[in-house]
Amino acid sequence: MPNPTASSQPALAFEQVALGYGEKPLLHDISLSVGPGQVVTLLGGSGSGKTTILRGATGQLAPMAGRVSIFGENLANVGANRLRQLRQRMGVLFQQGALFTDLTVFVNVAFPLREHTKLGEAELTQRVLDRLEAVGLRTAAHLRTSEISGGMARRVALARAVVLNPELVLYDEPFAGLDPIAMGVAARLIRNLSDELGCASLLITHDVPESFQISDHVVLIGQGHCKAAGTPDELRASTDPYVRQFIDGAPDGPVAFHYPQSEAFDRWLAKRGGSNGGAP
Ligand SMILES: Nc1ncnc2c1ncn2[C@@H]1O[C@H](COP(=O)(O)OP(=O)(O)OP(=O)(O)O)[C@@H](O)[C@H]1O
Ligand SMILES: [Mg+2]
Repeated sequence: MPNPTASSQPALAFEQVALGYGEKPLLHDISLSVGPGQVVTLLGGSGSGKTTILRGATGQLAPMAGRVSIFGENLANVGANRLRQLRQRMGVLFQQGALFTDLTVFVNVAFPLREHTKLGEAELTQRVLDRLEAVGLRTAAHLRTSEISGGMARRVALARAVVLNPELVLYDEPFAGLDPIAMGVAARLIRNLSDELGCASLLITHDVPESFQISDHVVLIGQGHCKAAGTPDELRASTDPYVRQFIDGAPDGPVAFHYPQSEAFDRWLAKRGGSNGGAP
């Protein structure tokens, strides 16, 4: 259940954050905040840095500038033990949300409950079946993960991410591989968890129509920066060419399709005896 004392502060806050893997940041000046009961969508093209932002939010990747806070605590001042405690209040659906293969759907979803709670068997079974019911897979509980489809596995991972009733949930591409009906169910599940349990949800996706239906706030990233932020209606009304192209899904415009050329690529190509002629 949501912590009433936490309701005044965001569950997740980025303040002017820079993130990257090498010496130079990949993302600059990113600010966003997700409060209890809110669904905030992070939109951006492939390779724009959405998963990188998720890694910043879980403390896997330290910011190169700015501040990341979870439940009001600046992650820069948090030790490993405290980080583990904070992560227990957080659910994460990873983009490559691997399930344990050769185990059943039930055992996969029950795993976080066995790790972090002392629930009795009857209560644990009930909780797992409830979460599976919410994603339409209660009657698949007995199947091995090798026996289910890719989209079903995605829904099992979604059930697992929320089984501990987290106060903050980060969903990285929850709609990937889902058919339109399952996508609608997943979107409603995300909205309902925020409405009913008061959890804060950060939804990472490229799916504009589905995410706009359930979001309170949208942040669009591109070219290393925050390109736009506002309510879905504000973004729909935007005349900015970058925002327009993203929302309309137009093939031509300022949103880059090609991965940027680099010296590392040039060196690799030269070793293979190639040349850069004709590179975009
Ligand atoms: N571990 C890593 N080390 C170095 N560079 C990385 C690493 N992970 C990602 N990158 C680079 O960072 C950039 C952003 O990657 P990221 O995974 O955050 O994109 P994304 O927006 O999640 O894309 P997608 O929608 O395809 O999942 C890419 O250029 C990628 O090559
Ligand atoms: Mg990603």
